[in-house]
Amino acid sequence: MTSGSPLAADPATDFGGTRHHGCMATDTPPCAELHLHIEGTLEVPMVLELAERNGIALPTPDAAALRRRYEFTDLQSFLDLYYENMAVLRTPEDFESLTAAYLRRAAAGGVMHAEIMFDPQAHLIRGVPLGAVVEGIAAALAAAEDELGVTTDLFAAFLRDRPAAEADAVLTELLALRAPIAGIGLDSAEVGHPPSLFVDLFARAGALGLHRIAHAGEEGPAVFVRDSLDLLHAERIDHGIRSVEDPALVERLVRDRVPLTVCPLSNVRLHAVPSLAEHPLPRMLAAGLNVCVNSDDPAYFGGYVDDNFAAVRDAFGLDADALATLAANSVDGAFASPARKDELREAIVQWRAGVSTRFSTNA
Ligand code: ADE
Ligand code: ZN
Repeated sequence: MTSGSPLAADPATDFGGTRHHGCMATDTPPCAELHLHIEGTLEVPMVLELAERNGIALPTPDAAALRRRYEFTDLQSFLDLYYENMAVLRTPEDFESLTAAYLRRAAAGGVMHAEIMFDPQAHLIRGVPLGAVVEGIAAALAAAEDELGVTTDLFAAFLRDRPAAEADAVLTELLALRAPIAGIGLDSAEVGHPPSLFVDLFARAGALGLHRIAHAGEEGPAVFVRDSLDLLHAERIDHGIRSVEDPALVERLVRDRVPLTVCPLSNVRLHAVPSLAEHPLPRMLAAGLNVCVNSDDPAYFGGYVDDNFAAVRDAFGLDADALATLAANSVDGAFASPARKDELREAIVQWRAGVSTRFSTNA
C-alpha cells in the first residue's frame, strides 16, 4: 500500500488516537453523527483503488470523468451512481477499509459518536455474502473506539424500492449472523414507496427490541413523516425537511421532541431544496424542532459533518450558541448510553467556552 493510498491512514486526518477536539478549538462543534450511509463515504480514489484490487472493470474508470458524473438532478440520479460504485466493494477488507476511512475523517471533524447505516440488500443482490459485509464493518467499528475514541451504533437500512418480503428475509439472515445492529432504517427512493409497505417489518424489529429509524420527508410528502411515526413507530426521522409544509405535524414533532437528522449539503446537491439559502433549517430551529446536522453521503455531496456545520454557519450566520444547539440536539437524538451522552454534552460545553471570544468579536 502506498502512503498516498486512500486505504491507508491519511496523515492529514490521522491524529494518532487523539481526538481533534481534545487538542484544539475549532470552528465547528463536537457532535454525534446520526445520518450516515457507510456506502456513501466511498470516495472516488477508493472506488478506483478497490476496482483495481478486485479486478473490476468500471463503467467510468477515469477519476475526472467519474467526478463529472456527480452532478445530480434528484435522489434517483444519485442512487443510480451510488449503487453502481458499490460494485467495487466485495471483501470484508473492502468494507473495513471503507468504514475505517470514514471514522478517521469523522473523528478529525469532531464526530465523537456515529450511528451508521449500511444497505445489506445492495450487496446481497450483487452476490456479496452478508457475512463479509458485516465482518468488515464491525471490525472497523470495534477498532474505532480504542483508536479514535469514537463510539458507534450500526443500523441495517432496508431499500424501500424493493419488496418488503425481501427485507424481512434479510433481517432474518442478519439475526442468524448475530450482526451487531442496534436497529433498522428505511432508505432509497422515497416517492412511490410509502412507509405503509413496511409496517410488518418495523413491527418485527420493534418486537426484537431493535431501534427504528426511517427516511421520510426528503423528497416525499410530509404525510410520510407522520406515517413513519404512526405506522412504523420510528423513533427518529432521517431528513424530515418537508415536515415544515404541515404546521400540525411540526407542532407534534416539537411536542414529542422527535429527532430530525437534517443533511443540508445533501438536500442542495439532490435539489430537495432550491439552494442552501432557501433551506428550511433556520425555520426548523426557530420552530423549536429537534434538528441536527449530518452528512448523509459525504463522498457524493461535498462534505463531512464539519463541512455541513460550516456551510450552514456561513449561509445563515449561525453563532456559536446555535451551532452548540445543533450539536446538543445530535446528542439528544442519539441512542448512545446516558454516560456517553454526558461526555458528548460536556465536550460541547467545553467547545462553546473555547470559541466564545472569537465568535463574539466576529459578531
Ligand atoms: N441512500 C443513501 N443516501 C440516501 C438518501 N439521501 N436518501 C435515501 N436513500 C439513500
Ligand atoms: Zn440518507
